[in-house]
Amino acid sequence: MGQQVNVGVVGCGAISAQYFQTIDRLPQLRLVAVADLDLDRAREAVRPYAGVDVVSVAELLADPRVDVVLNLTVPAAHAEIALQAIAAGKDVYCEKPLAATVTDAGQMLRAADAAGVRVGCAPDTVLGTGTQTARKAIDDGLIGRPIAATATMMTPGHERWHPNPDFYYVPGGGPLLDMGPYYITSLVTLLGPVSTVIGAASRTRAKRTIGSGPRRGEEIPVTVDTHVTGVLVHASGALTTLVMSFDGAATKAPNIEVHGEKGSLVVPDPNRFDGSVLVSGVGEEGWRPLPEAAGYAGAGRGVGLADFASTPEGEEPRAGGSLAFHVLDVMESLLASAHSGAAVTITSTCARPRSVALIPSEGA
Ligand SMILES: NC(=O)c1ccc[n+]([C@@H]2O[C@H](COP(=O)([O-])OP(=O)(O)OC[C@H]3O[C@@H](n4cnc5c(N)ncnc54)[C@H](O)[C@@H]3O)[C@@H](O)[C@H]2O)c1
Repeated sequence: MGQQVNVGVVGCGAISAQYFQTIDRLPQLRLVAVADLDLDRAREAVRPYAGVDVVSVAELLADPRVDVVLNLTVPAAHAEIALQAIAAGKDVYCEKPLAATVTDAGQMLRAADAAGVRVGCAPDTVLGTGTQTARKAIDDGLIGRPIAATATMMTPGHERWHPNPDFYYVPGGGPLLDMGPYYITSLVTLLGPVSTVIGAASRTRAKRTIGSGPRRGEEIPVTVDTHVTGVLVHASGALTTLVMSFDGAATKAPNIEVHGEKGSLVVPDPNRFDGSVLVSGVGEEGWRPLPEAAGYAGAGRGVGLADFASTPEGEEPRAGGSLAFHVLDVMESLLASAHSGAAVTITSTCARPRSVALIPSEGA
């Protein structure tokens, strides 16, 4: 463990509680200040934690104690807050997607480079034992050369449970930009970067109805595609078939499968840290589970921030900006392909993030 890193959080909504728990648990991170447009919400969110300042965004960014800004705002605000943090000389770690558009994300990364600060981004779930054990199996040659993968996320929509789901139905949201980061980050971890995409997409309804909280029953507009499918051609030659949907009642399809020359793997939900990896070799009957062999065990959201904070100078963090930029580029290109009807070449690339050895619970 290195030096303790002081964290300032901007955005204290639904996901913030999970981060606060992890930061509280990990000795290498310390929560010093939080900000939100709604200061009452921020106060309420940090009520269980002593000694955390509740301040304006400007005050948080001016606080010399803050080493890294954890940006938990809605996707449309990610770039604005990140650029302000970078201008204040802070490292910044964002929730996904990195920004609402590739243009905004590019501006963030260039500004960070110029300022000599670092950008990290969720999801960190892929650093857990689920995706990492599957990655080790692939790297160890268990299924031979990977040929193909499938990735399926099917839900009737987050407005059923999220009290303020507006951001899921505007640019930066939709099933692809919201859930795609988990799946595509896992696929890039497993199979490497993507070179071309071919997409198709649809939008079933113009409005959605909020299903919980004080706004229950309120209708919100839908301005993004809500069923997105496509093929990702990885630079390795492997082909992923992807379905991301807010229009399906349920599915029994595995979240991710990877098929190689010698066998197939079931990869657990990339929106979770753990889960069982299953393998079936060519000619074998059924599936056998693999023991946990890699990744942060018992992790929660925020372990990627700890990993980011402890990455030595000059090394790309695992949950790093260039990976998140590539994932966003793949998603935006998939939507562009869906609208033009033509394949889109991906101009960005990234290295597969460094693997994580099996690290017992609490480690980072
Ligand atoms: N809700 C989840 O289960 C979940 C899970 C994983 C990741 N995420 C991601 O986390 C991020 C936040 O999601 P959420 O569900 O917590 O959203 P939310 O709407 O519940 O909370 C966002 C908070 O950010 C604040 N905010 C927005 N713009 C701001 C600005 N310019 N300055 C200061 N504060 C601002 C809002 O007031 C709000 O309190 C999103 O990027 C989302 O994709 C959410």
